[in-house]
Amino acid sequence: MESMQKETRVFPPSEAFAADAVAKADKYERAQADRLSYWADEARAALSWDKDFAEVLDWSEAPFAKWFVGGELNAAYNAVDRHVEAGNGERAAIHFEGEPGDSRTFTYAELKDEVSRAANAFESLGVTKGDRVAIYMPMIPETIVTMLACARIGAIHSVVFGGFSSDALRSRVDDAEAKLVVTADGSYRRGKPSPLKPNVDAALSAPGHTVENVVVVKRNGEDVEFTAERPDGAKELWWHDLVDGQSAEHAYVAHDSEHPLFILYTSGTTGKPKGILHTTGGYLTQTAVTHRDTFDLKPETDVYWCTADVGWITGHSYITYGPLVNGSTQVIYEGTPDSPHKGRLWEIVQKYGVTQFYTAPTLIRTCMKWGREIPDEYDLSTLRVLGTVGEAINPEAWMWFREVIGANNGPGKPPKEDPAPIVDTWWQTETGAHMISPLPGVTHTKPGSAQAAVPGIDIGIVDELGEPLGVGEAGLLVVKEPWPSMLRGIYNNSERYKETYWSRFGDVYFAGDGARTDEDGDIWLMGRVDDVMNVSGHRLSTTEIESALVSHEAVAEAAVVGAKDATTGEAVVAFVILRGDAEDATGLEQELRNHVGQEIGPIAKPRNVLVVPELPKTRSGKIMRRLLKDVAEGREAGDASTLADPTVMQQIAEDMRAKHGA
Ligand code: PRX
Repeated sequence: MESMQKETRVFPPSEAFAADAVAKADKYERAQADRLSYWADEARAALSWDKDFAEVLDWSEAPFAKWFVGGELNAAYNAVDRHVEAGNGERAAIHFEGEPGDSRTFTYAELKDEVSRAANAFESLGVTKGDRVAIYMPMIPETIVTMLACARIGAIHSVVFGGFSSDALRSRVDDAEAKLVVTADGSYRRGKPSPLKPNVDAALSAPGHTVENVVVVKRNGEDVEFTAERPDGAKELWWHDLVDGQSAEHAYVAHDSEHPLFILYTSGTTGKPKGILHTTGGYLTQTAVTHRDTFDLKPETDVYWCTADVGWITGHSYITYGPLVNGSTQVIYEGTPDSPHKGRLWEIVQKYGVTQFYTAPTLIRTCMKWGREIPDEYDLSTLRVLGTVGEAINPEAWMWFREVIGANNGPGKPPKEDPAPIVDTWWQTETGAHMISPLPGVTHTKPGSAQAAVPGIDIGIVDELGEPLGVGEAGLLVVKEPWPSMLRGIYNNSERYKETYWSRFGDVYFAGDGARTDEDGDIWLMGRVDDVMNVSGHRLSTTEIESALVSHEAVAEAAVVGAKDATTGEAVVAFVILRGDAEDATGLEQELRNHVGQEIGPIAKPRNVLVVPELPKTRSGKIMRRLLKDVAEGREAGDASTLADPTVMQQIAEDMRAKHGA
């Protein structure tokens, strides 16, 4: 792997910011001196424990970790009740902004009541500790309430992104054997009602699943079909009928620190998504600590906003758990950034006086394309920390974010002299929380670098054999020591867990990313080194999309690659061979794109589908995706000498140019 990046700009924090920062440089020293006692102190300070832990880390059954052994706590109590008990019940917990312009605010006291009602409601349906609950919801407050109600009971939630198809939902419901599904009639996307409940109906239409009840929040008011007696046996209930009449008192029980909190499915290198399992004490510790330190959180005065969807890990760790455990006031937004106009994000920042804004590079690039005139019309002067996540941010987008958003001092006013620092946060569904990130009051930030391991995290960069690499040498990113919010396994598949993350170099965690360090020791991420693509910061597996394509009757074989894309980072490009009796008719490309949309979800739709007579294969039959990637990115295909038929690539390159102008 080779790195071409040269970036020399450096931005130290201002004196004022550094002086007032929540996290100071001594955190690195404390963690360095004694990692485990550092985490023990942080865990005790960040969370309320019903029973203190006796041991910080039990790694005797590596790679299966136990953190804060013997400790007991309740995630929902930590996220809600204790803030009310501390006298902050009137503080806004959630400012909800609906796409059509409706808004609602929940104080911590109101959130506590609603979580308790939902917990009582779910228990009335027979949901108990350890049961799995699938959540297929839009970005509305009830989604967070549902997650917390599950956590309160000790039921394990599995949030399925609302943009996933009914097939994707069903496979996740089946894998986790969910007892309850919570959904909504629908949501709003780009000014139009967008349905969800029909997807749940389709997902459950074939019997043989484990779901006993489907609870439906009324959100967009579209007609949904209700069936008292469904053929598959599951019962349907409206949220308001079930929850509203419940008692707002719910006595929680404390759960073991290692009690499972949630499962979240993510794409790997095979066709079957992995159910990443997170548990309670360690996960909450690291999400709360990093949320506070990375964003310099001052919960009494800040208004934090993360634009992610709760269907992804960012929404779990930096909307539901980290911010609420820290007693923050946050904004959640239901819709798309351009509804009803392209200034919607900035309008929301201005409306609530947002102080921390956490988003994805792809969104920044989209706003860049729309032009700075749009944000320039709004007063964004309250912003004091900006964050990015999901993929490496290119230096141009980083500089734009700083100069246009971070330095905005109100319309017509000269820019701030001291723009908001940017924190580029590297982490994964599996890591649960930030692993590499600046501390905004300490780090001298560089555009495009995620900078340094967060205090208490031990990162390495190694070569193919696991040997540590030196300055400037690009290699594979590993985590050398267990960390509190690490995944505890893949649900029902401990072999796959060991094989995927711990088999490559023995006793270190293999992240699947390439990286290098510079002369200052700062870390630069270089993208995935496996068959995982990153489209708009979302993880997609090549194999998963290939199997979706092959499930179409016209397709005999498919190869999928991620090609560089100016807006989405990577885009899905598919090469397919048709079956003997199928024809490359007009409309087939669109049909195949839609088919993938149906099988997985719209985010997985290929940007291009090219029908080819043959795929580039080695003599042993392995598809050489590297060559296809060259063509998809408009380059000459590299060395094709190991192909069984070297002329194949010429044909594909010509077809690609003719059809897609690449
Ligand atoms: O390749 C890295 C990329 O996103 C992957 C993790 O994806 P996911 O589990 O969906 O979680 C995304 C949100 C945490 C990583 O393996 N990635 C994430 N953040 C960054 C990044 N790549 C570079 N820089 C980042 N800041």
